Amino acid sequence: MKKNILFVCLSAFYIFVLSSCKHDSTPPVIDESAIKDTVYFYDEVLPIIQSNCAISDCHTNGEEDPDLSNYSNILKLVKPGDPQNSSLYKYAIGSEMPPAPKTPLNLEQVTSIYGWIKQGALANIEPCNSSDSSFNNAVFPIIKRNCLGCHNTGSTNGALTNFDEISAKANTILSRITTQSGSIMPPSPANPLSDCKKTQITNWINKGKHND
Ligand code: HEC
Repeated sequence: MKKNILFVCLSAFYIFVLSSCKHDSTPPVIDESAIKDTVYFYDEVLPIIQSNCAISDCHTNGEEDPDLSNYSNILKLVKPGDPQNSSLYKYAIGSEMPPAPKTPLNLEQVTSIYGWIKQGALANIEPCNSSDSSFNNAVFPIIKRNCLGCHNTGSTNGALTNFDEISAKANTILSRITTQSGSIMPPSPANPLSDCKKTQITNWINKGKHND
């Protein structure tokens, strides 16, 4: 009798452990309708990769790890039109990239990578309107794409996840993206923000940092 109870307990334990492992490896469900009409490589995909993966000691030496700092190398990890069979997408939904303590890519970022590959993995650049300086259209997307990899919730570098955190740090942000003081953000090997994006952030601050 005692043996039976032990057996039942062990079985329950194994089923629990196995099912929880299975749960962890479930791939995210991509909502195709959430993919933007055009996902831009230089403005959206490259910053996600650079701020999460291509940090100085992991993907830039070109020796063991793939160098994820430019288009032609990233294209080697991609089958244009076929995200499911692209190793870049498999990294993005896998559990080991980016390595801890970084947070895994969120569904929005995974959807961007998926959509970009599906749309043919082009080296495209988003048109930027320097006279648009609204927080929600211009500033927040820049921060989300280029900064959150290292400035997410709980980051010791200072979190920049919402309007309050960003507006409280606005002047420091401006001096770091224009290198008036301190080292440049985002740090090398990530590309600096374009002049148009710097202008959008500068104008948002000069116009009074509204949540518009
Ligand atoms: C690859 C990681 C990484 C990315 C991407 C990155 N940062 Fe940073 N950031 C850091 C680190 C590490 C520090 C702390 C060391 C330092 O101050 O240089 C920092 C510090 C800062 C600080 C100073 C914080 C303070 O409280 O004084 C600001 C402001 C900042 N970053 C803004 C940005 C902005 C804006 C972006 C995007 C355009 C960005 N960072 C992208 C790693 C990153």
